[in-house]
Amino acid sequence: MRMTDIIEKKKKGLALTWEEIGFFVGGFTAGEIPDCQAAALLMAICLRGMDGRETADLTTAMAASGDTIDLSGIPGVKVDKHSTGGVGDKTSLVVCPIVASCGMPVAKMSGRGLGHTGGTADKLESIPGLKTTFSPEDFLEIVRMAGYANITQSSNIAPADKKLYALRDVTATVDSIPLIAASVMSKKLATGADTILLDVKAGSGAFMKTEEDAIALARTMVDIGDRAGRRVAALVTNMDSPLGGAVGNALEVIEAVETLRGRGPDDLTEICLELAAYMLLLGGAGSDIETCRGLASDALTSGRAFEKLCCTVQAQGGDASALADTAKLPAAPLTVPFYAQTGGFLTRIDAEACGRAALLLGAGRECAGDRIDHAAGLVLHVKPGGFVTAGSVLVTLHTSDKTRLPAAQEALQSAFSFGETPPVRREIILSVIGV
Ligand code: URA
Repeated sequence: MRMTDIIEKKKKGLALTWEEIGFFVGGFTAGEIPDCQAAALLMAICLRGMDGRETADLTTAMAASGDTIDLSGIPGVKVDKHSTGGVGDKTSLVVCPIVASCGMPVAKMSGRGLGHTGGTADKLESIPGLKTTFSPEDFLEIVRMAGYANITQSSNIAPADKKLYALRDVTATVDSIPLIAASVMSKKLATGADTILLDVKAGSGAFMKTEEDAIALARTMVDIGDRAGRRVAALVTNMDSPLGGAVGNALEVIEAVETLRGRGPDDLTEICLELAAYMLLLGGAGSDIETCRGLASDALTSGRAFEKLCCTVQAQGGDASALADTAKLPAAPLTVPFYAQTGGFLTRIDAEACGRAALLLGAGRECAGDRIDHAAGLVLHVKPGGFVTAGSVLVTLHTSDKTRLPAAQEALQSAFSFGETPPVRREIILSVIGV
């Protein structure tokens, strides 16, 4: 088999066979296929696309390129969740404990934040002592003991994806639905859960800027799951504004804890209960979504979900008392208000601009491997629909480094839009796919 023939075939828009896809993924991961040929094929896929069978074959080959986790020794239906990334998206910290406290084991591997989007592993690591790096054996033991583990992905989970993503990043081949779907799903298939709920974000703070593209990506990922014999569904959710009020690692842990204690912002509580209900439905905890909504809501109001998060934090070496007393979490020495220049109804908050401002305050990474400040970030005091007068505080900025403030303030300058009437409320859950 020759790589040039495979590139030629895809250039003409023809479907690649399982053998050709396997040859490419195996050869590229082993360093036998050079970057120039891999980049040519990636560009051909970007321009010509892949059908459902090819996309599923690509995903399966990428998932098999490294370690796979076998969860079969843990009794029950193992569930996982994945968000395509947003601003202020702390849903995993709320949803996973809700689901696990309903008796469904949650085995989750999360990524780190990059650019304007955050990562669950960074948020968890703001809890004193908590570790997210564990061997596969210890990961299984924590799921068995605590019912929920949330660790970082080892470098040998889907290594083909790691190499391909780095090449896509520098060859303008990231924005292809089959390539994004295969990238996300290869990691999810390799980590072994029986059912996977995807939260596909749409809007200014998301990878997919339009609802239409987010639905297409969601459909492709659900189809991959079906073909791989996993139960997968997706909620397409709104990411035009940050979720809740907090953006930044420790700040988001505080807001997640407030939500688990029944005192969270409405939008965050609504989306978390809905995601948890669909995870429970996929896992078979109830026969219909209404029953599962009831289970999720009981887990939250009874305090069981909060207890579950404490249990996981402890199992991962963290100080669970920092959840009961969040003053023990990292706090920034500098808190600075950001004022409204004008008044009126807040019609829009640009999620991407808020994510960028949080990054500039130290909460995020410009490049993989950058150090982050767990205490940094921002807290929004008004959400779209709220009325403000000129001079009122819209946001509090948190940072440990005052030289970071001007750039963050600049990023926020055009993040807020005002009008004379309240905006039409946009639903948080835009579509449900695969249920
Ligand atoms: N997230 C991923 O994991 N992969 C992509 O290709 C895009 C977003």
